[in-house]
Amino acid sequence: MGLPLDGKEIILGVTGGIAAYKSCELVRGLRENGAKVSVVMTEAACRFVSPLTFAALSGRDVETDLFASRGPMPHIDMTARADAFVVAPATANIIGKAANGIADDLLSTMLMAAKCPILFAPAMNCRMFESPALQDNLKILRDRGVIFVGPEEGPMACNEFGLGRMSEPADILRAAISLFREKTLSGVRVLVSAGPTFEDLDPVRFVGNRSTGRMGFAVAKEALSRGAQVTLIYGPTALVPPSGVKAIAVRSTREMAKAALEAFGDADMAIMAAAVSDFAPAEYSASKIKKGGHENYSLKLVKTPDILSAFGKEKKKGQVVVGFAAETDDAGPNALKKLKEKNADIIAANIIGENTGFGCLTNRLYIYDKKGLVRDTGLVSKDEAAGRLLDMAAGLLQLKEIKSKGRTAK
Ligand code: CTP
Repeated sequence: MGLPLDGKEIILGVTGGIAAYKSCELVRGLRENGAKVSVVMTEAACRFVSPLTFAALSGRDVETDLFASRGPMPHIDMTARADAFVVAPATANIIGKAANGIADDLLSTMLMAAKCPILFAPAMNCRMFESPALQDNLKILRDRGVIFVGPEEGPMACNEFGLGRMSEPADILRAAISLFREKTLSGVRVLVSAGPTFEDLDPVRFVGNRSTGRMGFAVAKEALSRGAQVTLIYGPTALVPPSGVKAIAVRSTREMAKAALEAFGDADMAIMAAAVSDFAPAEYSASKIKKGGHENYSLKLVKTPDILSAFGKEKKKGQVVVGFAAETDDAGPNALKKLKEKNADIIAANIIGENTGFGCLTNRLYIYDKKGLVRDTGLVSKDEAAGRLLDMAAGLLQLKEIKSKGRTAK
C-alpha cells in the first residue's frame, strides 16, 4: 500500500510565531508520509527559525523573498504545481492578509494565486484570537472553503492561558492527509452532539459540567473529511464549528433534545458525544436568587429527557446510533449497561481523568458493541480517537443501501 501523501506537492507556509519550531516536525511528518514539501517563510518566520533548518528537513531550497527567488515567478510556478497549501503557524497577520486580498510578500502572493486546497493552523495570543477582526477574517476564509486545524487551548508562550496555541504537528499532519482522503462517507448523513448543556437557575447561575466539546467537534470534523453531510448540535463551548457542517448552537438539554430529535429522522448515523445534563432546576427564577435569609439552600432538580434513549427507541433499520459513557469507575459494565438500556449500537467509554475525558486534548476510548469490548484506542489525541470511532461506526452502515435507495422502514 502506498503512503497517504505519495507524490503530493505540498507548499508549507511558515509565518512569524513561536510555534514555527513545531513546523520543523511537520515537514518531517509530511515527507514521511510521501509528500514533497516546499517551504516558504515570511521575513518574521526567519527570525524564529533559520531557513537552513527547513531546507535541511525538506531537502529543497526555502523561498523567502518574492524578488530574490531563483525562478522568475515562484508565486505562480509553485502554486500551479501544488496539491495542497498548508500554513503553519498561521499568524493573525497572514490570516488577515489572506482574507482581505493583501499580497505584499511571497507567501501572501502565493496564497492569492493558489487554486489547491488550503489548510491553516492558526497560532497567536488568545486575546488576539478572540478579537473581532480575527474572527471576521476566519469567517471570510471559512466561507471560501479554507480548512482550519486548531487552535488549541492551553498555556501560551506569553504566559497566558487560552485558545490560541497551534495544534500539534501530528494533528496538522492528519488534517493535511484528510484533504486527500477518499470520501468514503459521501452521501451519508451524520448527526453529532457535542459539549455540555447548561441548565439555567436564574439569570446569573446555571447547572453545567466540564465538557469542552472537543471530542464531539473532532468527530464532526472527521466525518466531514470523509465526505459526510454533518449536522453538529453543540452546547456552550469556546470552540468554533468546522466550516462545512450544519452547526446548531443550543444551551439546555431541552433545546438539544428538540434539535436532535428533529434532525434524527434524516440521519444515517448519530454520534452523541455531548455531556448532557441529566437534571435541570425544577424552577427558573427570573430574578437573581438572593442569599439573604438563607443559611442553607436546597435546589430541586428534575430529570431531563434522555436523547440517546429516545434515538434508541426511534431508530429505523439501518440507522447507527453511537453513545458515549463518561465514567470514573467500572467503565466496562457501565458502558455495556448503557448500550443495552439505550439500545445503542456502539458505546465509547472514557474515564474521567487527567489526560482522558473532559478538558484535555487526549482521550482513550474503550469501544463496546453488542459483542462486548471491540477496541481500546490507547491514549491518543481526540482527533485520532474520533477517527478510530468513526472507522468502527462506519463499519455498521449499510453504505450500499444509503447510496442507492436510502433507508427502509423497520
Ligand atoms: N445522554 C443523552 N441524554 C441525556 C443523558 C445522556 O443523550 N439526558 C447521552 C450522552 O450524550 C452519552 C450517553 O447518553 O452519549 C451516556 O451519557 P452519560 O452521561 O455517560 O450517562 P447517563 O445516561 O447520563 O448515566 P449516568 O450519568 O448515570 O452515568
